[in-house]
Amino acid sequence: MTKPFIKTAVIGHPIKHSKSPLIHSYWLDLYDLSGLYEAIDIKPENLKQGVQDIVNQGYSGFNVTIPHKVSIMALCDEIDDLAKSIGAVNTVTIKNGKLYGTNTDAYGFAQNIKETVILNNWSWSFNQGKAVVLGAGGAAKAITYALIQEGVQEIIITNRTRGKAEDLTKLDRNKISVIDWDKRNQILENTNLIINTTSLGMNAKPPLDIDLSLTPPNALVTDIVYSPLYTDLLNQAKSKDLRIVTGIGMLLYQARAGFELWNGVMPDVSPELEELVLK
Ligand code: ATR
Repeated sequence: MTKPFIKTAVIGHPIKHSKSPLIHSYWLDLYDLSGLYEAIDIKPENLKQGVQDIVNQGYSGFNVTIPHKVSIMALCDEIDDLAKSIGAVNTVTIKNGKLYGTNTDAYGFAQNIKETVILNNWSWSFNQGKAVVLGAGGAAKAITYALIQEGVQEIIITNRTRGKAEDLTKLDRNKISVIDWDKRNQILENTNLIINTTSLGMNAKPPLDIDLSLTPPNALVTDIVYSPLYTDLLNQAKSKDLRIVTGIGMLLYQARAGFELWNGVMPDVSPELEELVLK
């Protein structure tokens, strides 16, 4: 029996720098599956027509990236509770012409940390203490959601624009509080987890100005930025012998969940794939 040819894609604008085609094509080859994964550039004003074209061309699904993660929601026939809570869709499955939206960013974030903890045999878990989230954009929302799901009891969000951080407390007002951005160094005491969700530290962006002096030795520090892989934040954490988790895994694990939805195979996140994506 011939295998079905599964067409998938990522939509965004701009899209040519996306690593997703590389990741999905690698897995399609590795598991000897018949299909393709393309990058499709769709301008915001063409989103409706662009998505209709994808449906008409028989695609099984697509990932959604900047700037469409929120606007795609209006075009979905169904959105699961997870994506509704996060307020963004990054993965769409198409069945009988209908669009089903979900969000795999929270899974990607949590899974990356869990797998790294297991791999390194660290005695660390999400529910051991306080988490500090730096930033309050779209990524912070999915990450804060994941923290609650993973049983973190206390979450402090700090963001340059305080109002955006306050907005995120709606996810769980009992567990989340907000601190001014200029007080960020003072809240790192007794912290179990520090997460940079801002774009600071990324190549061509200003560095993240933070001082980890008060951070306890058992803390884990992670960054969603993966270019460079070792950001100033992670290098500072390393120099203090703190545990670090780089940002590339979040990208790979969120991709993994979409791949399984469309192709029926849960692919492995391997060091070889990580190396390929970082090249
Ligand atoms: P994403 O959806 O990928 O998280 P975003 O919504 O643009 O992207 O969020 C980027 C984050 O980086 C925000 O928290 C932003 O802070 P503001 O909400 O105040 O804009 C943060 N950020 C970007 N540049 C910054 C800077 N120079 N100083 C402090 N925070 C910055």
